[in-house]
Amino acid sequence: MASGESGKSGAAARDMAGDAASPWGDALAELAAPSGGLNIAVACVDRHVAAGGGQRVALRWLGRRQDRRDITFAELADLSGRAARVLGDLGLAPGDTVAVMLDRIPELYAAALGTWKAGGVYCPLFSAFGPGPLRARLEIGRARVLIVSDELYARKLAANRDGLSGLRHVLLVRTDDGPLPDGCLDFRALLAAAEPAAAADTRPDDPAFLHFTSGTTGNPKGALHPHRAVLSHLVTGRTVFGLSGADVFWCTADPGWVTSTAYGVIAPLACGATLLVDEADIDPRRWYAILHEEKVTAWYTTPTAIRTMMRYGAALARSYRDNSLRVAASVGEPLNGEAVSWGQKALGVPFLDTWWQTETGAIVIANAPGQGRRPGSMGRVLTGIEARVVQCADGAPVPADGADTVGELVLRAGWPSMFSGYLGDDDRPGGCFREGWYFTGDLVKRDGDGFFWFVGRADDMIKCGGLRIGPFEVEAMLMDHPAIAEVGVVGKPDLLLREVPVAFASLNPGFEAGDALRAELLSFARQELGASMAPREIHFIAELPKTTSGKILRRVLKAKAVGEADSFDSLPNLPPCPGRFDDE
Ligand code: WT7
Repeated sequence: MASGESGKSGAAARDMAGDAASPWGDALAELAAPSGGLNIAVACVDRHVAAGGGQRVALRWLGRRQDRRDITFAELADLSGRAARVLGDLGLAPGDTVAVMLDRIPELYAAALGTWKAGGVYCPLFSAFGPGPLRARLEIGRARVLIVSDELYARKLAANRDGLSGLRHVLLVRTDDGPLPDGCLDFRALLAAAEPAAAADTRPDDPAFLHFTSGTTGNPKGALHPHRAVLSHLVTGRTVFGLSGADVFWCTADPGWVTSTAYGVIAPLACGATLLVDEADIDPRRWYAILHEEKVTAWYTTPTAIRTMMRYGAALARSYRDNSLRVAASVGEPLNGEAVSWGQKALGVPFLDTWWQTETGAIVIANAPGQGRRPGSMGRVLTGIEARVVQCADGAPVPADGADTVGELVLRAGWPSMFSGYLGDDDRPGGCFREGWYFTGDLVKRDGDGFFWFVGRADDMIKCGGLRIGPFEVEAMLMDHPAIAEVGVVGKPDLLLREVPVAFASLNPGFEAGDALRAELLSFARQELGASMAPREIHFIAELPKTTSGKILRRVLKAKAVGEADSFDSLPNLPPCPGRFDDE
């Protein structure tokens, strides 16, 4: 690939840890121990205690039922030290996976930070996963320990735990005080009894967290990230959100999402800000009240959440306009220009779009302060990142950087939070790295001023409320039902969630297409996959469209689904007219 513009930023990315002038070099100097060790939990918590900030609030937790709790940096250091001791006493070895399926409750943060202190790999899982996806991830992730609420355990794993031979311990966060289920331990009781352990002396490249993501043709794959990723979180926490000890930062992401690990745990704490955590799900009235009453200064949410708030109207928003917000940003799906300016009108700050993925580990493109902003665009590359737009001719990438040429977004490998590999297979032929570049799978355009515009995915991935759903996993599960002969799953446009999974199925002989079977299949899917991944509709068709080699043509199914959607034209991803916000 031609390298016409590998300027200073590219050099910085390649030379990330050694060059003191690069943002990563400075961050490494700030966070690493004199011995060269780097541990995310120390960077987030213990170092602030050592610097005299132990009494400041690290975590302000708001419970579903109006209960609340402030946890200082000193208390969080103690709590995570206890969690590390519990895990160590159970025999967790360095690099072992600790899977965590919890809502946003204090034990989630103890589990994440405690896992890092113990030298383990933190692997959060969506609590909306059904038993099938949960089991697949525990297997592929080779989870040693699972920390889960008693209620989720009973519903999703208790009946089919056998066979998960690698899973040595299940630690329950208990909501009822009946007898402890067989083969489980009580996480809170263990925490209360433990002596805090010191953090393991992990190295920058030791594995630290694992997030499952979906491919289009294969099984779920886990993207593994090293402790070094915290350098990106510290830097982007400052450059995108301007975070410091004076901030109250709120990230609304589900704990299963990489957004929660990166910006709902690591970035704000590493920057010494107070992390605000709301246990409840989205509820615009409650959210406005929180922004206002908790004096949130920086907020990170999703386009789906913003659209939900827009539905409640600007009048409600304006009644809370007297807030402390300095910056509001969004991630996960395209943010249309209208939503950007709605933020300005309703909350007094525009929503800034940011772009990244599980694999990038942290924000790499953003409408960041000082970089200029362009509503409807994802923004520009951050310092230290080098991005290009390429098209593949005969398999070889050719640059397509000219203004408004659509191509795949590729990033020069080597920024600190880049994933170090997949557990499970990479389903892209030849993998996603070529000639030192990482291929993101997103189609974009870059305008003459360096702003990137999202066009679509290069593959069949479905984006539902920001969640990435691989059609293959849904199809494979539906195939387990005796009625289904063949099935293809695609995303149908949805005004709120952007896309929802829908299935097109042909039936085996002896089964009759009709409402009764449709209802049965939908409920089978919800039961096994969980509500978020299950198809919302099932259409019966005599035969699925296929290529000559027999591969299901999801493209054709997609066109059918789009044809049936209400008003695709008003979907928020359509390129809005560029207009410029005053920079600052
Ligand atoms: C995919 C990554 C980033 C953490 C959460 C999602 C899409 C992400 C944007 C944006 C348009 C976006 C891309 C990307 N995406 N941000 N600002 N505009 N699309 O992580 O589940 O790994 O999904 O989300 O398609 O590849 P993920």
